[in-house]
Amino acid sequence: MEWWNKRVFYQIYPRSFCDANNDGMGDIQGIISKLPYLKELGIGAIWLSPVTASSDYDNGYDVSDYCDINPKFGTMDDFKALLKEADKLDIKIVMDLVINHTSDQHRWFIESKNPESPYHNYYVWKEPRLVKGKKLPPNNWDSLFLGSAWKYCEENGLYYLHLFTENQPDLNYNNPAVIEEVKKILKFWLDMGVAGFRCDVINCIYKTSYDDAKKRRIKTGKEFYLSQKGCHDILKELNRDVLKPYNAFTVGETMDVSLEEAKDFIQDELTLVFPFEHHTGVDCWFQIPVLKRKYKPFRMIKILKKWQTKMPWTPLFFENHDQVRSVSRFGDEGKYYKESVKMLATVLLTQRGTPFIYQGEEIGLTNTDFKSMDEIDDIATKNIYDTLRRLKFGKKRAFKMTMNYARDHARTPIPWDDSENGGFCTVKPWLRLNEKYKEINVKKNLSESDSCFNYYKKLIALRNEEEALQLGDIEFADLGKDIFAYYRKKDDKTFFIVSNMSGKAQKIREEVRGLPILFNYRNFNPQQKILRPFESVITRI
Ligand code: NOJ
Repeated sequence: MEWWNKRVFYQIYPRSFCDANNDGMGDIQGIISKLPYLKELGIGAIWLSPVTASSDYDNGYDVSDYCDINPKFGTMDDFKALLKEADKLDIKIVMDLVINHTSDQHRWFIESKNPESPYHNYYVWKEPRLVKGKKLPPNNWDSLFLGSAWKYCEENGLYYLHLFTENQPDLNYNNPAVIEEVKKILKFWLDMGVAGFRCDVINCIYKTSYDDAKKRRIKTGKEFYLSQKGCHDILKELNRDVLKPYNAFTVGETMDVSLEEAKDFIQDELTLVFPFEHHTGVDCWFQIPVLKRKYKPFRMIKILKKWQTKMPWTPLFFENHDQVRSVSRFGDEGKYYKESVKMLATVLLTQRGTPFIYQGEEIGLTNTDFKSMDEIDDIATKNIYDTLRRLKFGKKRAFKMTMNYARDHARTPIPWDDSENGGFCTVKPWLRLNEKYKEINVKKNLSESDSCFNYYKKLIALRNEEEALQLGDIEFADLGKDIFAYYRKKDDKTFFIVSNMSGKAQKIREEVRGLPILFNYRNFNPQQKILRPFESVITRI
């Protein structure tokens, strides 16, 4: 077994984590100062969202220099200090690798505008399509952030491809020179001591053709760029030439990936891939997050079971910097707030796979009550709102729909205590804090024995101690429709985990067997025939 089979990951979104120099934005020194906090929680590895140089149109996911640090976060020396301090605490650092696209401020892109430059072929430049004398984009593909996937460049009279914002031009993976550049980047960071990479939208990098695609509600073009054979070939090459020799860990962000495709990606390519079906398939129509429909726990359970059964190993997550807060989405912000946070934690940390906690999840941070678009920073959210307005939705309705999937819910600065701005900074923070910071903050969580943090801590400690919970097999039990129940077994140890994932009390088909060792209500009676709303329990058999 490898280290990543056993450890619990924690994702840090650096600009919102901890602000050491009080400039309103988190930084690397801030992260260093909180390593003991993460150690106390029981964390063994960090996925660090981008800290590389960036023009910050998409908060780091638009890299302008792959081998330098964004000065907003600190210096290369700070980064090296982070690696050293984390190593002292036996915490691995996994970086974000954003190689589908660069920033339009990257030196390669600036030079590539010149068709004579050796960098021209680093990007996807195409002649306009001429229709009745009008210059139109080369094909009908959509950007994943809405609008056309092509931007016209006045300087050279050509269009370039951007699957995300127009400031994020896609690299051209038909050009072997680009793959060689990526190998150099991987080696640069691995030589410095990072343990691996979370690979951003990695199943989009290779485009098989640039033909017109079937028109779809969203993602027109996807049949030519999602999980293509060319993508697998490139990942195999990167793995063979760099990742494997370094024994590097990789986890791919693989959009819309099916089970079969996911299995292919972990064959001599990536270590793990994030599944998204439990996000796209439970509470929205047509997999479009703003088109909200009622969340049904049984759908979530069905999908989780499917991935647990059919994948040999999978990352486990409810939150990241692109998703709204899990308690607001799958739990209850009101009467059963703590119970639902703890139930979700139980499900997250007891399945088979590698758990990823997203910053703030461990203190039960909720969505934020944003009042208007003026409070929103995220470019993708702004695009969604503008599109809804163009489609003639009224201001109020468009705002409400947009907030269903505003990524800024997950990006508000971490409230460390109940002082001004949650102790994050005393100047104006880059994004406003969650208005509940006086009740939901780290200090309060640390001081109350029944807090969300302390429940997470106990749960992680249990997982870290018990091989059955880390590596054991999983076997499902049927206690009722909205009840997620399973055994985790290894050698002579067996745990039984039962969670009512719904906000209603549920009769259970049989009593919960075993000796209760961790539960989220004040007590748990093994004879009880009903599970209370969001109730969960771990027993030892
Ligand atoms: C996925 C990242 O998680 C997201 O934050 C980003 O906007 C897109 N990829 C583009 O890089």
